Amino acid sequence: PETYRVGLLGHGTVGAAFEQLLAERADAIAHITGYQPQVTGVLTRSRGDFDEILANSDLIVELIGGIEPARDYVLRAMQAGKHVVSANKLLLATYGEELWSCARSNEVQLRFEGAVAGVVPVIRVLQESLAGAHVERIHGIVNGTTNFILTEMARAGATYEGALQRAQELGYAEADPTDDVTGRDAAAKMAILARLAFSTPVHLDQVPYEGIEHITAEDVAYARDLGLGLKLIGTAERVDGGISVRVHPAFLYPGHPLASVNGSFNAVTIESDAITEITLSGPGAGGAQTASAVLGDVISAMIPPASTPETSEALAIVEDVENAFYLS
Ligand code: HSE
Repeated sequence: PETYRVGLLGHGTVGAAFEQLLAERADAIAHITGYQPQVTGVLTRSRGDFDEILANSDLIVELIGGIEPARDYVLRAMQAGKHVVSANKLLLATYGEELWSCARSNEVQLRFEGAVAGVVPVIRVLQESLAGAHVERIHGIVNGTTNFILTEMARAGATYEGALQRAQELGYAEADPTDDVTGRDAAAKMAILARLAFSTPVHLDQVPYEGIEHITAEDVAYARDLGLGLKLIGTAERVDGGISVRVHPAFLYPGHPLASVNGSFNAVTIESDAITEITLSGPGAGGAQTASAVLGDVISAMIPPASTPETSEALAIVEDVENAFYLS
């Protein structure tokens, strides 16, 4: 099949995992889409030239993080008629309106499932499945690092510092974990979710946030002894003709859908009169998980949205799938 050329900007935890995953899955994707995806250029701080990569790509994956030069590259890619996939929450929460407007006027796709809750498909659900629902409220655990730290601290003997270091080693934390622990990373993600849910521009600066830096072992023990969960919760809701978006630590009663979300997992509950409530949860941070969300966006950009993939010969004979009845 013809090559589908992917230009990759950034080669950190997610970028490296994405490149590897794409290579592993390329043949299967070729079967689904009819095109063989291939990373044809990589831009890092020390190698690659953006203009050259852009000229030789059908789609740009932006995993640099931060505002500049990511913003400039994403705009230039879309102006050149290329689809863009980005996992850059900070960029979307601050320059989202400019970027979405640029995508519309150039008739290209800007996809960003990996920017919020990793591989948990909350962006698609808000943009597509619930596009017709009048969303009233979203609650989310949308930062894996802080959820991991709080979960660890609830175990006897685990310290804040030790848990943070472990989160960094496991690739959950940002390069500078300040945005994780202060709640700013979660605030950026809630701004993006609020924008989609309420069709209202929401800028990171409009989202008050409080993180977990001041939470002590005693706070965590207190919650645990009362049978409560202590979580960093993002909220986006309609209030009095406006909307409120905020992030702060909160105690959750044991049966709350977010109370049992532990470790680096993320979860989002979406409430609306029409649908009552749904909860989506799963791995929200980590290179391989976020890379999977990014790859899903790349594939979505490669195929017309509603088409059904070709039948895979390997799996077509259902009788050949062993143990199909032993899932429970
Ligand atoms: N640092 C982020 C987190 C990575 O911990 O959730 C995923 O956006």
